[in-house]
Amino acid sequence: MPDDAPKDMEIYCPDQASTERVAAALALSAKAGDIFALTGDLGAGKSTFARAFIRKFMGNPNAEVPSPTFTLVQSYEAACTLYHTDLYRLSGPEDVYDLGLDDELSEAIFLVEWPERMPAPWWQNALEIRLEREGKISDGGDEARRLVFAGNRPRWQALLQGLL
Ligand SMILES: Nc1ncnc2c1ncn2[C@@H]1O[C@H](COP(=O)(O)OP(=O)(O)OP(=O)(O)O)[C@@H](O)[C@H]1O
Ligand SMILES: [Mg+2]
Repeated sequence: MPDDAPKDMEIYCPDQASTERVAAALALSAKAGDIFALTGDLGAGKSTFARAFIRKFMGNPNAEVPSPTFTLVQSYEAACTLYHTDLYRLSGPEDVYDLGLDDELSEAIFLVEWPERMPAPWWQNALEIRLEREGKISDGGDEARRLVFAGNRPRWQALLQGLL
């Protein structure tokens, strides 16, 4: 992130349902050209976040949303196309270009797990959503997460304000 980036916004999610509510709220405002870069350790909740986002995007709370860990890319159609990708098994930006998604960047919504491998130009339209473990267990047995949002597109400010 550049030095002049606005201060990161954070949302505390005491349980999985609250993480899913944030994802669903974001899905309602998302539009073609948006890239959501989901960062966080193994098991942080990137796929969980993406699943709730995609189900809202599809308008189907039961939609099948497999993790793209092995397929690399899963696509969904609703108001526009949505690509859910997991770049963990790729070695870097060259491999990402080989996925052939570059022409789709302005036409689709992207949810990207392990975006550390993304080419630099992709970051220009990206909102980073970092899932941090809080180590606090809720009554239901879920673990709390802190969601930290970082991105320097003016659009993200309006979109994040809508989440509060
Ligand atoms: N507050 C929470 N928010 C999100 N997930 C939670 C929360 N509490 C517990 N979980 C659990 O954490 C796990 C997150 O797994 P998930 O596959 O989403 O992680 P991931 O970041 O996609 O991992 P990977 O790096 O392997 O792709 C799930 O089992 C989910 O039920
Ligand atoms: Mg995952």
